[in-house]
Amino acid sequence: MKAIVQDEYGDADRLELRDVPPPLARPGEVLLDVHAAGLDRGAWHLMTGLPLVGRAAMGLRRPRWPVGMEVSGVVSAVGDGVTALAVGERVLGVGTATYAERARAKVKHLVRKPDELSYVEAAALPVSAVTALQAVRDVGRVSPGDRVLVIGASGGVGTYAVQLARVLGAEVAGVCRTEKVDGVRALGADPVVDYTRDDLADHAGRYDVVVDLGGLRPVRELRRLLTPRGTLVIAGGEGGGRMLGGLQRQFTALALSPFVRQRLATFVSVTKAEDLATVADLAARGEIRPVIDTTFPLDAMPDAMRALVRSDVLGKIVITVRED
Ligand SMILES: NC(=O)c1ccc[n+]([C@@H]2O[C@H](COP(=O)([O-])OP(=O)(O)OC[C@H]3O[C@@H](n4cnc5c(N)ncnc54)[C@H](OP(=O)(O)O)[C@@H]3O)[C@@H](O)[C@H]2O)c1
Repeated sequence: MKAIVQDEYGDADRLELRDVPPPLARPGEVLLDVHAAGLDRGAWHLMTGLPLVGRAAMGLRRPRWPVGMEVSGVVSAVGDGVTALAVGERVLGVGTATYAERARAKVKHLVRKPDELSYVEAAALPVSAVTALQAVRDVGRVSPGDRVLVIGASGGVGTYAVQLARVLGAEVAGVCRTEKVDGVRALGADPVVDYTRDDLADHAGRYDVVVDLGGLRPVRELRRLLTPRGTLVIAGGEGGGRMLGGLQRQFTALALSPFVRQRLATFVSVTKAEDLATVADLAARGEIRPVIDTTFPLDAMPDAMRALVRSDVLGKIVITVRED
């Protein structure tokens, strides 16, 4: 089968389309005929091996597994002990090495694909929408009437965070670059702050919850945006040194939180079937909308990664493997 593989850490030039043997479903897993696979920042981390501290899990010298987590497709074989899914079922979720014609996935990381969603839409949900749900609902504890600020509102996670905070009844403001202001406003964010022109300091003290997904603003700057008892959720942000990337801020927030009235939180998203089902159901009912910027065929996956690195994207890029 055709698959995107890489032998060494590096930039998108390391990603190659090759003929490789198809994977086998292990116990508790299924094999999928991949229809579409979403691209998210996690793929960039695995491709580059950055930050270096992450190599303890990703592989010290070279990546332990190929890139690609978000997936939608059709079950083509089931591993030992699998009764919850059968051959022929249409699913979405998180798998391994999903930029390929076939990929394996744990049954507990999959849910049935609603008929209302295309494979492309379904593949844009699993990591990004679940991360946004956990950031806004579980860690941010957003409730009706809250004022929420999403920094990185134009990204894969942020476009869902804006919509999910609104579903929870919040008033949502977003932060992004000039070219994406209209797109973020169309998701229901108001106001939308253009970080290349406007000063976020003008928004001091306004927000019950700040969800930070982009840039590397210091914790003290983010705290100034909060009400005296507000909540800061740091979920990501790229850049920083090679060793820790943006993680320094997360450590600062955790260390400081017990000593201040504001709640300063961070988290690592976990794939849960009930959360996958929640975002799939909200999307099927039209309450949230996967924002698909561009689709790329499998052989152009390295170009998709280059577009992500340029931040040339509103919402999500999806790799298409079979006809939708
Ligand atoms: N904690 C977890 O478990 C978890 C899970 C998934 C992702 N993440 C992390 O969350 C972050 C966002 O992921 P993603 O998939 O949404 O990435 P993405 O699609 O690449 O989006 C990145 C966002 O950051 C924004 N940004 C970049 N520079 C900025 C600046 N100086 N000020 C404000 N915003 C800025 C971008 O806005 P413009 O494009 O408008 O410039 C864009 O909205 C990443 O760091 C990722 O690693 C964490």
